[in-house]
Amino acid sequence: MEIRIFKSEVEASRFVCKRLIETLDESRSVNLGLATGGTYVSTYERLVDAYQRGEVTFNHVRTFNLDEYLDLSPDHPQTYRNFMQRHLFAHVDIPAQNIHFPPTDEHADYSAYDSLIEAKGGIDLQLLGIGANGHIAFNEPGTPFDSRTHRIKLDETTRRANQRFFKRFEDVPHYAVTMGVATILDARSILLSAFGEEKAEAVRAMIKDTPDPQTPATALQKHPDVTIVLDEAAAQKVRA
Ligand code: GLP
Repeated sequence: MEIRIFKSEVEASRFVCKRLIETLDESRSVNLGLATGGTYVSTYERLVDAYQRGEVTFNHVRTFNLDEYLDLSPDHPQTYRNFMQRHLFAHVDIPAQNIHFPPTDEHADYSAYDSLIEAKGGIDLQLLGIGANGHIAFNEPGTPFDSRTHRIKLDETTRRANQRFFKRFEDVPHYAVTMGVATILDARSILLSAFGEEKAEAVRAMIKDTPDPQTPATALQKHPDVTIVLDEAAAQKVRA
């Protein structure tokens, strides 16, 4: 694991944006794994700015989002598809058919998402956030490390953490579909960003604890190419 600590979220997001631009600056097509959540809002904003300045194109990019809520109507502003549309896709030249999300139909074969990713050549760079409970994507504590894309019931702590995106707690979905831990570990490179002191304990556990499915992020210790991007608040228990 390479750990990069920045003075602020702004500087950290600048680093992540630069890494993305470098990854996209290749003649061959690139498969990006994308994350939603508050953590990546400023990175995507910078990326859109870079696109508008002509510094990057998405016309050779395929995207695979990590997860999606299951009990939200497709026109709800907080679906992850709508989040991505608002913060990135609507503003850049990515071909619509290159945008992928895990299947959300009730009777879907969720593992088809793993097959699709594999058929398209695998993910080159996977972006990740981390939940305060140590989840990655929506792999909640206890999810096996060999899990593939699957349906999951969200922890109450996760629903509370995401309440800020909804009017009322009752409106926060209970179910989601998520890439599994093994799906994530298949990516060639992984970059996890975490900002703010509420992530400090999960970040410490991810880096320092013995890998254990009770803290899904500890699975990243098993991957050969992981960069952890932190601001000082999120890094406070790593430095100690
Ligand atoms: C959310 C998402 C994750 C995200 C994490 C942190 O619930 N499902 O993919 O990385 O939890 O979110 P945030 O960036 O808003 O803190």
